[in-house]
Amino acid sequence: MSVQKEIKKVTTNTLLRMKAKGEKIAMITAYDYSFAKIFEEAGIDVILVGDSASNVMAGHETTLPITLDQMIYHASSVIRGVERSLVVVDLPFGSYQGNSKEALHSTIRIMKETGAHSIKLEGGEEVLESIKRIISAGVPVMGHLGLTPQSIYKFGTYTVRAKEEAEAEKLKQDARLLQEAGCFAIVLEKIPAQLAREVSESLSIPTIGIGAGRFCDGQVLVMHDMLGINTEFKPRFLRQYLNLNEQVNQAVKQYITDVKSADFPSEHEQY
Ligand code: KIV
Repeated sequence: MSVQKEIKKVTTNTLLRMKAKGEKIAMITAYDYSFAKIFEEAGIDVILVGDSASNVMAGHETTLPITLDQMIYHASSVIRGVERSLVVVDLPFGSYQGNSKEALHSTIRIMKETGAHSIKLEGGEEVLESIKRIISAGVPVMGHLGLTPQSIYKFGTYTVRAKEEAEAEKLKQDARLLQEAGCFAIVLEKIPAQLAREVSESLSIPTIGIGAGRFCDGQVLVMHDMLGINTEFKPRFLRQYLNLNEQVNQAVKQYITDVKSADFPSEHEQY
């Protein structure tokens, strides 16, 4: 008889329990099978198939151009590398802002065609009806407040949001509405740490911060930024754990030298 190792999957309930116990949640973005597998094996709680794929995978300046079909391709690749982590997929710009029916239709495509576990969308009160409709169809939703990159042309800049009283009040109200609507977590992007603390302490669902300070219930980073693949992006909130750009550059230089000098392949590397 073969003994199968039981895998304890991370679910939205796991994240709620983690918040209740004061255990921090670690989330990272991934866009393909191989990295998703490495992150899963390292023990990451949540993998976000972010629409930041538009920037880091496709080289666009903003997240706006990525399509639903492209997100589905990335998400289905990620899912094949994951057994335990919770996978969240971004609804891309233009796939949900029209109305709640469109939002549900895009969500159903993601869930059916990728096998992902949940979706994330940007915004507060404006997208509440869509959030309620998606949740009532049985799909868990992660919210996203603060700097919402799909609205970059409305903001005009990527600087810290909600520094002024009115915007901070709206963010607090939106966070309450998202929780009441049934979101299982909320990403807080680039807002003052004290505001993120107030929001995190006022909610029973976890907040996941990026540039929102140490009082959030979890943190998320874009893999290309934290692994040092993308070296031009150096905001204050980013901790770079590797300089993969430099390491890959050195490795490829060495490979080129070895090929040109006929050092590679050696006798042991041929049949
Ligand atoms: O698309 C993304 O990577 C994100 C994170 C920055 C939270 O939404």
